[in-house]
Amino acid sequence: MIERTFVMLKPDAIQRGLTGEIMGRLEARGFKPVAMKFMRIPRELAERHYAEHKGKSFFPSLVEYVTSGPVLCMIWEGENIIMALRGMMGKTNPQDAAPGTIRGDLAQQTGRNLIHGSDSPESARREISLFFNDYELHEHKMSIEPWLFE
Ligand code: RTP
Ligand code: MG
Repeated sequence: MIERTFVMLKPDAIQRGLTGEIMGRLEARGFKPVAMKFMRIPRELAERHYAEHKGKSFFPSLVEYVTSGPVLCMIWEGENIIMALRGMMGKTNPQDAAPGTIRGDLAQQTGRNLIHGSDSPESARREISLFFNDYELHEHKMSIEPWLFE
């Protein structure tokens, strides 16, 4: 099923110059960008985005981390993309992330794990509407689609 997911390249990805590397992997998979926004997340938005973790010991440092510099917020579309992208990201702790995954290849610590991706259809819907207005999404057909989808 074709789905959409919310992706955020965290401040370390920007500072380390890894946005091209990471987006290149999504493009090479055949996923399609639908929206992109370079922004500094206000603390309040970071807290709402990660509300499920409120009260946990790492919550303050997580909010500090994702608000410490600009991030690249995006919506990508593709076949089963929510779970597929989670697979491409690798486990939360880069030490547990398999080689070949973004975190397994490019990161070392949980608190500097480069990328966020929605973990379910409900999260994707919630996060997309938290970060984007409808007019910021761009529907477009790509000419390669017959070579990606039968
Ligand atoms: P994300 O939400 O950012 O895509 O990451 P995730 O699903 O793989 O992991 P999640 O459990 O949702 O945790 C969100 C982010 O919080 C930081 N974290 N730190 N020190 C810790 O034990 C710990 N656990 C999580 C990470 O930055 C993680 O990506
Ligand atoms: Mg998560």
